[in-house]
Formats: sequence, structure tokens, C-alpha cells
Amino acid sequence: MSDTIVLAYSGGLDTSAAVKWLQEERDYEVVCLLADLGNVGDLEGAERRAGEAGAKEFAVVDAREDFLRYFAFPALAANAVYEGAYPLATALGRPLIAKLLVDKARETGAAAVAHGCTGKGNDQVRFDVALRALAPDLAIVGTARENEWTRDEALAYCRQHGISVESGEASPFSVDENMWGRAIEAGVLEDPWLVPPEDAYAWTQPLDATPAEPATVELRFEHGVPVALDGEALAPVPLVERLNEIAGAHGVGRIDMVENRLVGIKSREVYEAPAAVALLAAHRKLETLTLSKQQQRMKERIAQDYADLVYEGLWFSAHHQDLAAYVHSTQRHVTGEVRLRFWRGHAEAVGVASDASLYHFELATYGSDDAFDQQAALGFIKLWGLPLEVQARQQLLRESPDPLRLAAPGEE
Ligand code: ARG
Repeated sequence: MSDTIVLAYSGGLDTSAAVKWLQEERDYEVVCLLADLGNVGDLEGAERRAGEAGAKEFAVVDAREDFLRYFAFPALAANAVYEGAYPLATALGRPLIAKLLVDKARETGAAAVAHGCTGKGNDQVRFDVALRALAPDLAIVGTARENEWTRDEALAYCRQHGISVESGEASPFSVDENMWGRAIEAGVLEDPWLVPPEDAYAWTQPLDATPAEPATVELRFEHGVPVALDGEALAPVPLVERLNEIAGAHGVGRIDMVENRLVGIKSREVYEAPAAVALLAAHRKLETLTLSKQQQRMKERIAQDYADLVYEGLWFSAHHQDLAAYVHSTQRHVTGEVRLRFWRGHAEAVGVASDASLYHFELATYGSDDAFDQQAALGFIKLWGLPLEVQARQQLLRESPDPLRLAAPGEE
């Protein structure tokens, strides 16, 4: 009797072909697991195709809430953004899907799990590393990595085996999406000189079609977690759904970058992440009010490490646990409201308030309520500038460089 394998199934062309291929070429019985992290397209079509391809089971798991609560929101608290731009939607989704694959494998007594990632991308690394950490006993089959089909070959294989293919399936791009964002790659995007065509985008309006008037929303965070929109308490899923809509309508969240992949190549990637970009802007703003300078500085450094480890597939690592513990601790007082304005592609935090605010009007004001002791500044400056004064006397003034060219040493 054949072993069972659990396949991370999207319902699209490639993983539908993979269902058949795993039976024909690897002698497995295939359980299709469709992890819903948001924006699952045509569920009925996916189930039908799994059946046509001979799957012995088709299962859908609605993991949207878990995805936001345990993956996207902790990354938001860390302000994790890869290479200054990418909010990591796909990278955050993979470890959760890996966990769901393992759960399903245990439930069905499967000996193996499979995914359809190519051998050139980050996603295979994230899946494999997570799977080996969580379930080292399960064999892993990377179907696309093993058969190296082109899109046309996968298409032909489906036709040959009676798996129906939608006409829209001939999409010129490779797309991955979940609630935290949409990643678009391949096709004409492979030339970084070319402007991404409008049909690459699905969640965001082009700037010439966004409303002439800005939209302003009010977001409430509690301990770094977004909990309400415009005064209405919302669970993570509706909150992010709504923000994706509002911000997307104003063209917020388009990202076009050349990024450093884990496998050593540079690739041109286009993303849409309206809610993520909006929430990151709001969360950062609230932190400016509620964190000390040292906390902010340390968090900035950690944000980069955090983004790298998520990108690089190390979600289930002790290093991640340690950084997450620090980040979590910093969020104790990150509670308050942020006013966000969406307009012409921008999400701008235009107002912020918190009961735990470190901003004090009486200290900051130049008006008559000023409580800042300006005389105390004298002694402070004297000590702050003391080492510089000594150094200038002992060194700088003796060398007598042109003060104008202090930072241009080579210039005559
Ligand atoms: N480059 C992005 C990442 O590594 C997106 C990958 C998108 N995957 C896809 N199958 N289109 O996270």
C-alpha cells in the first residue's frame, strides 16, 4: 500500500499538477491541505481540481486569525521589514503552513509532506527548515524542485491528465498572497528597468485613480497590537481586511524592489501590502511617543535582525524566541491612538495620543506654560561639550585644519 503524503495545496495550476505527479511518479496517496491565510481565490475550483487530480482528501484550514495573531502582529510589534521595504507577508506565512502540514500529517498518519516551491526561491528554504525543526521524521518532497517543470509543461501535464485549468491560469506572473500582502514576481518584472505593468497589481489603485480627497482613520493599539479602527473594536481579520481596502483604494502599499534572496541571487519583486504598510506607519508613530530613546534605538537594531531571521526561514529558532521576548517587553506601554491619513499612495501618521505618553507639553512648549528649566541647560552643555573642548585644544586647534573642509579630508 502506498504511503500518504500531505501537500501544501493552493488550488492553482502547479500544485494541481503536483497532486497527480506525486501519485504517478512517487507512488504516494495525496492529501491536499489548503491553508487559508486570507485571499484564497476559488475554493470550489480548488476542491474540484484536487478531485480531478486524484487526491484522496481535500482539507481547508482557516488559519487567518492565527496568522495575524501569532505571525504578522508579532512582526509588526518588531517593525520587521526586509531590506527597508518588504513587510514579509510570504515569509511570515510559510512557518505557519509548515506547522499545519505537520498537524495534518500526524492526523492522517502520513510519512511525508510536500510543497510546490521551486529550487531557486526562499520559500523552499522556509518550508524545509521549518519542517525539519518541527518534524524531522517526515520526508519532504519539493515537487517543482524535483520535476523542474516550466509553466507550459505543468499546463500540458494537467491537460493530459484531465485536470481542468482556468483561462485566467495563464497569468504572466507568479503570485503569492495572504492577508499581510501580495507578492508578484516573474514575467516582465524580471527586467528591473521595466516599469511594472498595471495588471501586476490587484489590491491597490494606481495614483491617477485614487480619490482626490484623503481619508483619515483612527487606529487603537494595545500593547503594540492593533485592536480598533475608528473607535470600533475589531478582531484581527476584519481589522486587516478593512485596512487593506481603505488603504489600497488610496494606492498605499505598492513596493517595487530588487531584493537579496537567501539563495544568493538578486531578484526584482513587486509587493502590495496596504494594511501592513499602514499599520507599520501607525505603530512606529505610537512608539515615538511611548518608548524612550534607548528603547527606540535598540528596537531599530533588533527590527533588522528580526526581519532577516523571518526572511531566512528561522522562525522556529531560539534566537527568534529571545528577540520576540525583548520586543514583547517593549510593548508594555505601546497603547494609544494614531490618526492615519491615506492619500495619493501615502499612509501618513498625522496624530498620536497615549495615556502612557512620554511627550510632555509643559516640557516641550515655548509658550507661557513652559516648565523646562532653561538655566539647567548651561551646566549640562558645559559637561556635555567638555571632552570636545579638551580635544579641540589639544589636537584640532594645533593641526589647524580648515573648519569648512573638516569632512572632506582629501581635498586641497
Ligand atoms: N520574494 C518574496 C519572499 O521571499 C516573495 C516570494 C513570493 N513567492 C511566490 N511564490 N511568488 O518572501
